[in-house]
Amino acid sequence: MEKLSFTVSAEEKEKIETLIAKMTVDEKIGQLNQVGPSPVGGFEISLKEKKLMLHEGKITKEEFERDLQGVQWDTRESDVRDGKIGSFLGMRGVEKCNHMQRIAVEESRLGIPLFFGLDVVHGLRTIFPIPLAESCSFDENLFEQTASIAAKEAAATGIKLTFAPMIDVCRDARWGRIAEGAGEDTYLTSRFAAAKVRGFQGDDIAKDDKIAACAKHFVAYGAAIGGRDYNSADMSLQTLWETYLPPFKNAVDSGVASFMTSFNDLNGEPCTTSNYLLKDILRGKWAFGGAVISDSGAIGELIEHGTVSDRSEAANQALCAGIDIDMSSMCYTENLKNAVLKGDIPVEVLDDAVRRVLRLKFALGLFDHPYTDESAGESMYLCDEHIKLARDAGRRSIVLLKNDGILPLGSDKKIAVVGELAAIRKEMLGTWAAMGRGDEAVCLLDGLAERNLSVSYEECCKVDGTFDRAALEKAVKDADIVIAAVGEYADMSGEASSLCHIGLHGEQEKMLLALKELGKPFVTVLFNGRPLAVPKAVEISNALIEAWHLGSQAGNSICDVLFGDYNPSARLTATFPNHSGECPIYYNHVSTGRPTSEIRHSCKYMDAPLKPLFPFGYGLSYTDYQYSDLSLSQNNDRVDISVKVKNTGKLPGEETVQVYVRDITASKVRPVKELKAFGKVWLSAGEEKTVKLSVPKDSLKFYDMGMNCIFESGDFEFFAGHDSTASLSKVIYIEN
Ligand code: BGC
Repeated sequence: MEKLSFTVSAEEKEKIETLIAKMTVDEKIGQLNQVGPSPVGGFEISLKEKKLMLHEGKITKEEFERDLQGVQWDTRESDVRDGKIGSFLGMRGVEKCNHMQRIAVEESRLGIPLFFGLDVVHGLRTIFPIPLAESCSFDENLFEQTASIAAKEAAATGIKLTFAPMIDVCRDARWGRIAEGAGEDTYLTSRFAAAKVRGFQGDDIAKDDKIAACAKHFVAYGAAIGGRDYNSADMSLQTLWETYLPPFKNAVDSGVASFMTSFNDLNGEPCTTSNYLLKDILRGKWAFGGAVISDSGAIGELIEHGTVSDRSEAANQALCAGIDIDMSSMCYTENLKNAVLKGDIPVEVLDDAVRRVLRLKFALGLFDHPYTDESAGESMYLCDEHIKLARDAGRRSIVLLKNDGILPLGSDKKIAVVGELAAIRKEMLGTWAAMGRGDEAVCLLDGLAERNLSVSYEECCKVDGTFDRAALEKAVKDADIVIAAVGEYADMSGEASSLCHIGLHGEQEKMLLALKELGKPFVTVLFNGRPLAVPKAVEISNALIEAWHLGSQAGNSICDVLFGDYNPSARLTATFPNHSGECPIYYNHVSTGRPTSEIRHSCKYMDAPLKPLFPFGYGLSYTDYQYSDLSLSQNNDRVDISVKVKNTGKLPGEETVQVYVRDITASKVRPVKELKAFGKVWLSAGEEKTVKLSVPKDSLKFYDMGMNCIFESGDFEFFAGHDSTASLSKVIYIEN
């Protein structure tokens, strides 16, 4: 039985079949063709060349952006009229979407509506924290709420499909796209996937404020070798099934409407044409009935992969493997007709793909309501409700990494702020900021200004530039406390932004060292889209706040934490290494025969500490929590966990309770521990509560060497605590 997130009525099914019967081969292929507006004019040279100049440092970002504003975009109106385009990506503006839709509906022969897709990854105009940051809240309600607001704003601008959620597990912070997902853990990413799908889609994607989600990138993209974007992924099938596939399975089970394949090859097979991934697993085992979209240009890139000899073979292979929509490569448009007419591809294969696209369009309600109300958006973007959520999402995503007691700050202190990231609004938005506008974001200086505090600011050091010591000395001379803003620009993470050095860039560390030398107490605020290897900053800062790229309300969220209006509760969802050379690094590695220890011949680097800079799940708060009385009981198909958590400090707070499990003896080497449950509990000062969580027995299964998913009876150690180093544990024997 095919799994579809939406129901297609008998009447709609009939309409789809009637349409397919009327369509020419060209019109069918048109439905599978997704393109973006392409630039014409504005530049004396092509956009591609201009981008190259930017990457080579021949022009500045500002020059590039200024030039981009002069560009005119070709939206291929005549192709839409001729039924040669089925959907658009990257179309911005409700009037533009409606205009193009009118051509499709009123001027094309069959009047089939278009759909418009966009990367609404963490907000449309109101920008929420980047997903890696938001995942640190360990808060499914939040994941859902932000997706729901993003969907509402997107739908108001004519967008009916988002290329999100990105649910690639990533264990290597060098990979820039770690910013777009929920970190290194499979279980957390799976829950993130389900919550995002619920938030974007609700119970009916046809509703005015809902959009279709797209689970991407299928699959193992986050395992790009060396963390180098677009690189191959090579892994055992057990790792694939245990670590990388579960979030996608959860997306299917949550009713996700579409999938996007990944650029990489997996074990030698490009994911774009993998029969194993697309036919055996996605369409076969999981019975996914939604539409599958290629990644941008990926079908054409099969030539570079060297698995096809030309674009025609690329198109044939991709369609036959199950890619319904060709994003941007034009391989389908240019080649499929011939293949169908020659009989190389049975017309039924083409019809199946068209059927899935039309079903999606019916489910989106586009045949009944193709146009978007042009007045809805402006009153909604960045409205009070959305801003409030963005601010709350921001503070729930901030991880307090160090605090010697300097935080929270009193508002009577004279504060000096240094570092350019404190002052650049657009850098707060992070990667894939959809239609977010830099000038609408609140930077740290704005947040401080809103509080009417006595604050002075001096840039002193750019992210990638030199550090001006004289300026620093002058800036901090009269201050009681310094806030140093350091880290990465928004475009240093995200797509095509892999780095082999993930420390502080330029001379930012020099600036922190100078502050230490000057003897000024200072709080370091990190802005970044990936874990950073910053042991020196940790050592010398009085406090360290991981503020990621928090979106529209970043500055206010940070101030809420700095001044104690919010007691930080977020926990890292990706391990922070001491050095870039420790990547890949993740907490749930399998047990070795020589576990990491002081002993020379144990699993470690000679020139790095035994422990990561910060482990998975780590994060401080302004209070302390104590765990006790862990008890376990097996109830049929699950293990119930109960643990007492007490707030032993002086401030109320929300604790993120984490449960990890270790399979003590198994027929295969198993992870040292794995997150299997988590929950949030609010505790006033001195309060104690019993937290109850449960772990389904099924989630303790694993794949044996014959790729059977099995449960083995035996002892399992359950840990409950504050992070992945939790030591409070109990062992339970679980029978098959
Ligand atoms: C990215 C996708 C994205 C697509 C459309 C590609 O380069 O890999 O994640 O959805 O572009 O913008």
